[in-house]
Amino acid sequence: MVFTCTATIDPAFVIADVPPRLFGSFVEHMGRCVYGGIYEPGHPHSDAEGFRLDVLDLVRELGVTAVRYPGGNFASWHRWEDGVGPRDQRPVTLDLAWRTIEPNAFGLNEFMTWTHRAAVEPLMTVNLGTRGIEAACNLLEYANFPGGTRYSDMRISHGVPEPHNIRTWCLGNELDGPWQIGHKSAAEYGRLATETAKAMRRIDPSIELVACGSSNDRMPTFGAWEATVLEQAYDVVDYISLHAYFEQRGNDVAGFLASAHVMDNFIDGVVATCDHIAARKRSRRKLKLSFDEWNVWYMSQFPGPDKLEWEHAPRLIEDEYTVQDAVVVGNLLMSLLRHSDRVAIACQAQLVNVIAPIRAEPETSAWRQTIYHPFALTARHARGQVLRVEPISPQLRTRTIGDVPAADVVATRDPETQHVAIFAVNRKQNEIGQLSLRLRFDHEPAVIEHVVIGGVDLGGASNSAADPGRITPRSSARHTVDGADLRVELAPLSWSMIRLAPGASLA
Ligand code: AHR
Repeated sequence: MVFTCTATIDPAFVIADVPPRLFGSFVEHMGRCVYGGIYEPGHPHSDAEGFRLDVLDLVRELGVTAVRYPGGNFASWHRWEDGVGPRDQRPVTLDLAWRTIEPNAFGLNEFMTWTHRAAVEPLMTVNLGTRGIEAACNLLEYANFPGGTRYSDMRISHGVPEPHNIRTWCLGNELDGPWQIGHKSAAEYGRLATETAKAMRRIDPSIELVACGSSNDRMPTFGAWEATVLEQAYDVVDYISLHAYFEQRGNDVAGFLASAHVMDNFIDGVVATCDHIAARKRSRRKLKLSFDEWNVWYMSQFPGPDKLEWEHAPRLIEDEYTVQDAVVVGNLLMSLLRHSDRVAIACQAQLVNVIAPIRAEPETSAWRQTIYHPFALTARHARGQVLRVEPISPQLRTRTIGDVPAADVVATRDPETQHVAIFAVNRKQNEIGQLSLRLRFDHEPAVIEHVVIGGVDLGGASNSAADPGRITPRSSARHTVDGADLRVELAPLSWSMIRLAPGASLA
């Protein structure tokens, strides 16, 4: 069976420049993300500072541009002071978020050193769960103030003479969630976030601030939470956050494959709420969005923190990803690109071991999960501007989210090189999609790369420590160019990237 999807790609239909921080990630003190992930002193692949060099290599290859730290739920109980200063004087503490023993051997300064090695921008989360304005300000003073004050001099005494100049700060984490230590009502959080923002800006007016939005769009308070928080905080924050994790519900494979459609609606709902508040306030400023946790996570298999034993760096939610998951992740990145006029930051959660594209083991070299590949290819090749593509596709029936388009397409174009990257997904499990694109360029395009992840027979396959190279993107020649028309065959249940360079002139 074959279906057809048509679309036009026109360089004039620009949504926005590709936001550099759309390819962010997330490192939380959780499970083996920090300890046994990015940091493992004594491992054969670690350097003198304990950083896993094999992990760092994969992080750079992945194309990650920004990393949020130190949580996550971890941030809502964490005392940043415990993680700085001489290691032998740092306390061993309890992390209530994940019932973990935290040695505090890795903290702010180690993280900042690591970000320089990884060539990523840091995003810091402050604790607005159990702490408040003063602790957030002290941390900002420690991190960004040049010197001559209590906390900036403390940093200097810890061997860091220059300020870290961290640009972006998240005002807490998921405080709408009853699971959060220090959970708050929207009104309580809105007031605390506003007052914290005002005080932090006194210390460093150059910072950017992210207010907590909803933990997901199934929260009963979704929409109302954003509106109440922004009613107070709209003028003092730069972004509102979104978090979303996707998994297959019941036997609805089609609904899972259409997760990007859910993400589209979620983003549109938050944009509408922000713009509603802007209208009420007569503000011309369009608030941007920080989608600072997103991924596939088989969350229903996680028993919850109350069931965990107190341990240091346990194996927590180390989901092994399939090809199907990679197709969904590739499509989620397409949704983020499509909203690049409003989504300025996005962080895949998390980076290593914990629901992560990279896995690291004590005995072996780090390896790439299936979801690593669409992220790396998109981060490398989605360059320049995102173009508006409105595919016309038949619908796909799902059990949990109704009818959704069977195919999805998004494109980017670099105005300097005129290179175009087209990302396409076929959500049907048993039908080939014939993608028929009318290209409004003044030249015939030359296909310089066409890679595919997926194919129905591969849906459940995954990579593993024993076979880390089982699933990699494969080259495809299933495309034809005829003047301004490009036809691409989309395998069932697949994600594809087609890259074009300018060919002969069509004039
Ligand atoms: O990424 C794992 C957890 O998911 C984070 O700590 C929390 O913010 C979210 O609920």
